Amino acid sequence: MASPTELLESNRRWSEAVRAQDPGFFARLSKQQTPRYLWIGCSDSRVPANQILGIDPGEVFVHRNISNLVLHSDMNCLSVMQFAVDVLKVEHIMVTGHYGCGGVGAALEGKRLGLIDNWLRYIGDTIERHRPMLGTVAPGFRHDRLCELNVIEQVANACHTTIVRDAWERGQPLTVHAWCYGLSDGRIHDLGMDITRFDGLPEGYAQALANLSAAA
Ligand code: CO
Repeated sequence: MASPTELLESNRRWSEAVRAQDPGFFARLSKQQTPRYLWIGCSDSRVPANQILGIDPGEVFVHRNISNLVLHSDMNCLSVMQFAVDVLKVEHIMVTGHYGCGGVGAALEGKRLGLIDNWLRYIGDTIERHRPMLGTVAPGFRHDRLCELNVIEQVANACHTTIVRDAWERGQPLTVHAWCYGLSDGRIHDLGMDITRFDGLPEGYAQALANLSAAA
């Protein structure tokens, strides 16, 4: 494990390497950020947005929390979304879960971990909603299926926010996507739910669930 001092040294080497390749990089970025994407992902250390997408600093605005939840009362997530949509005018929001998510697994097993149980309780609601479908999935795949269902529910939540609805109402181009990342191969799985307008949500939601059933 690198010490904090070694991390600072690692940062210095990275900064020098970037500047050697593109001397104006940081000067340019320090003046303005114009990301086109908002990534809402899990806090899991293995799922860093920029690295996974292979893109530079400045290209994606990021919000991460445990199990990538979009909750209507979470001022942190809502503030990030509002700034990204209204001010930065991102054109895509990708809610990105990941297979093997520990938070999703804890909710599935009903594990008691402390304060976080209350946060994960929202995934419990998703389990209740989709209990019949989860019952058809082999136990070994149930955790991953719930990771996908959680993403689909969070996309629906994002689409229901006043932030996204207002943007659509004023004609601002904005698509909300459902993605799930594979820790074992580094690939993002597209759940096929790309919502571009509020009245497209029911059909997109139903289609994404149908895709999962077909894949089961
Ligand atoms: Co996770």
